[in-house]
Amino acid sequence: MPHGQRDGQRLAGRSGYAVALTSDDVDLDAFTELLTPRGQEALARAGELAGADPVAAATALRRTYDAALTSAALTQAGLRERAKAKFGRDATVMYFTPHGLEQSTRTEVAEHRAHRLMKMIEPPAAPAVADACCGIGGDLLALARAGCAVTAVDTDPLTAAVAAANARALGVADRVTVRVGDAAEISPEEYDVLFADPARRTGRGRTFDPMAYSPPWPVVLDLISRARLACVKVAPGIPYEFIPEGAQAEWVSYKGEVKEATIWTGQGGGRRATLLPGGHALTAHGSEATAAPVGPAGRYVYEPDGAAVRAHLVAEVAEMVGGRLLDPLIAYITADDPVDTPWATRYEIEDILPFSLKKLRALLRERQIGNVTIKKRGSAVDIERLRADLRLKGDNSAVVILTRILDKPSVLLCKPLSPA
Ligand SMILES: C[S@@+](CC[C@H](N)C(=O)[O-])C[C@H]1O[C@@H](n2cnc3c(N)ncnc32)[C@H](O)[C@@H]1O
Repeated sequence: MPHGQRDGQRLAGRSGYAVALTSDDVDLDAFTELLTPRGQEALARAGELAGADPVAAATALRRTYDAALTSAALTQAGLRERAKAKFGRDATVMYFTPHGLEQSTRTEVAEHRAHRLMKMIEPPAAPAVADACCGIGGDLLALARAGCAVTAVDTDPLTAAVAAANARALGVADRVTVRVGDAAEISPEEYDVLFADPARRTGRGRTFDPMAYSPPWPVVLDLISRARLACVKVAPGIPYEFIPEGAQAEWVSYKGEVKEATIWTGQGGGRRATLLPGGHALTAHGSEATAAPVGPAGRYVYEPDGAAVRAHLVAEVAEMVGGRLLDPLIAYITADDPVDTPWATRYEIEDILPFSLKKLRALLRERQIGNVTIKKRGSAVDIERLRADLRLKGDNSAVVILTRILDKPSVLLCKPLSPA
């Protein structure tokens, strides 16, 4: 068997798009070669082949390039495709690693943070920002584009090389310095702002425990304590006790999904919820939620945006819609009027019944509802199991909300209302 053909088969077996994209072995040598003129040519060819059969694409590239460059180019082209959802058109010229892409901040969220930060500081010509764990650069690129001079470190040499390449690719290299290094070695005193987005992955997958972040939480706290102004991205589920005294915690949702929390120090405390892409913001002082009134179901039920729920701002949303809670411990608001607000999704209540599979199935049958969106808060019911058990039939649609009302498991049968 000729050598090229044997290699081609090995490649096809090992590094079709799907395999390469889930692996974590984009390596530094191959990435460095990708940045050479020949590597760029291979990457451009791989980009043209995006969407083609992976085996055919690998075979076509192997006619010109060796196995390592072929694999690196195809992997990078595949990552660029995948990254378009987060980085839009920028993704077509950026570089990624699989983990780096997964952990990166999407452009709209990074830009929101960078612009907030620029408003907070009395701007020197270009505020100096230290990015303590930069990843592939989602945040540092937004900071640089907003006008900051960013010095960034990452412990992983490949990830740091990717971040530096991204700064060049997006034309902000003159404002960005990337080094391989440990966050603990940064001197926050030397910068106007400290930014950190610690890794929330361990060898066993994602972690929700800040003590297991990398760099670990005590290192982050030490950096924060020495910074004039600090901004730290954390998981939206961060327990309140981890939020440093006097800091502001901001929860950000994008298109209705909570993406992250950001801890800001040096600018006053409290809680804030932000909705992107609209830019709406709600704030409150202190960490204690205001108690919302509780009362009987009205004609409408409102599901507050997760950022408001995490920021303990449900009472503020209830006030906006003239509403009250169905249950003091659950974030469903009920009201008599259909107020249009970006802070909640509203539904018109058609029926309320105590939770019973038999009764719910009978009601859905009677109304010929074959298509349901099931939502729940305060209910332990397994949604997919319930959907199967309901044995739905019919052409009509409904929203089924499972919750507790004054501690009783209940079901609200609703229809969605489109925004006014
Ligand atoms: C969540 S990612 C940063 C993502 C980045 N903000 C973005 O938008 O692309 C966290 C990064 O921290 C790096 N890291 C982990 N421990 C570190 C440490 N002790 N010092 C510096 N970087 C570290 C990881 O290699 C990873 O790339």
